[in-house]
Amino acid sequence: MEKFVIEGGRPLYGEIKIQSAKNAVLPLLAASVLTDERVVIRACPRIADVLNMAQILAELGCKITFAGEDLYIDSADAANHEIPAALAKELRSSVFMLGSVLSRFGRARIAYPGGCDIGLRPIDLHLCGLRRLGVRIEEEGGYINCSCGRLIGADVQLDFPSVGATENIMLAAAKAEGTTVIRNAAKEPEIADLQDFLNRMGGRVSGGGTATVIVEGVRSLHGAEYTPLSDRIEAGTFLIASAMCGGELVLSNARAENVSALLDKLREISCKIHAVDDKIYIKSERRLSPKLVETSPYPGFPTDLQAPITALACICEGSTVVVENLFETRFKHVPELIRMGADITVRGRNAFVRGVPRLHGADVCAGDLRGGAALALAALSAEGASAVTDLRYIDRGYAQFEYKLRAVGARIRRVRI
Ligand code: UD1
Repeated sequence: MEKFVIEGGRPLYGEIKIQSAKNAVLPLLAASVLTDERVVIRACPRIADVLNMAQILAELGCKITFAGEDLYIDSADAANHEIPAALAKELRSSVFMLGSVLSRFGRARIAYPGGCDIGLRPIDLHLCGLRRLGVRIEEEGGYINCSCGRLIGADVQLDFPSVGATENIMLAAAKAEGTTVIRNAAKEPEIADLQDFLNRMGGRVSGGGTATVIVEGVRSLHGAEYTPLSDRIEAGTFLIASAMCGGELVLSNARAENVSALLDKLREISCKIHAVDDKIYIKSERRLSPKLVETSPYPGFPTDLQAPITALACICEGSTVVVENLFETRFKHVPELIRMGADITVRGRNAFVRGVPRLHGADVCAGDLRGGAALALAALSAEGASAVTDLRYIDRGYAQFEYKLRAVGARIRRVRI
């Protein structure tokens, strides 16, 4: 077990380069099974979720090599259609493998997927969509057994714009016979990124980033090299860190248009922000409260930034209501923030935050990925020293978190317990 030891109260000055998006890379890794030619993911972040997904690919028989920042995947010898339970439990995105493994082998077996415990997170929409494409699904003893002949394109109407279900169905449909139309599709930028990658492989996908995604099935897909989209959640985390700690930050390899819901909130609380090309500049001196933050599917305020902005609201002038509409138990960071002096009451999906001038250092424990990051930000802005334990959550999504923060003046170090 490891922890961060953080001396709070230092403003952040300098530049941070944003990594490729975790949520873009994971479906690309699943897509790599759709071809037996080599796939190269450029600038692939070495985060635990990516390493676990790579491990799943290795279990299927793919050869995986990291060379510098690039990940090489050679699926020529992939032969296994079962995703081991231990890995599936580690990573919810393992469920994306269903679509591509079925497309490749005509069958797939997977244990119910895990990931951060932030609510029920069912996979009914994934399974419904796959059934529409002709997949037979049986559930037995915590496992899902799927089989199919050649997948057949279909009209799939999602009851909710699930990111993972949209991606899974795109993967299953890429080599299906005929056309698949996904209606009420998720519009997250990572969907358009998966579309671009599939098209780079010779696929015929359009509409990614809108509510209707159209996948015209092709006979085969070939290898590709690809640099994924930059990580809007990592960018958002560091923007909020800047708003909390003060100073002046520049984020490079960042896409302002993908974090506009957050930028609107930060401007509302009086941060100075401007964006040029792939850079976002932020300067903050005073923080008014954002009043209301309500998470919703893209382009709304992302649930993955709910915990960090809740931490920010703790030290704003005034009160904020934070409404979590996507995941029902995503407030595990709140009791920990309260230990640092925050004034928050949670009722159901709402957190009522009354701003205090400063938080104070404390020993706190991360309970999930983004909640863990939020606690680190709180500790960076707090008076005195803090320890944030259980870094395996933060390591799931942020590469070199403490190095990036130290380079802009934060006092944060990793200590083995
Ligand atoms: C993805 C992101 C995650 C983000 C989430 C919402 C990845 C790897 N992860 O997760 O970081 O927090 O989008 O933006 O991209 N749902 C169902 N049935 C299903 C699928 C989902 O009811 O079959 C519900 C979920 O319980 C949740 C909501 O739909 O309430 C959104 O989930 P979804 O968009 O599927 O999130 P993920 O793809 O798991």
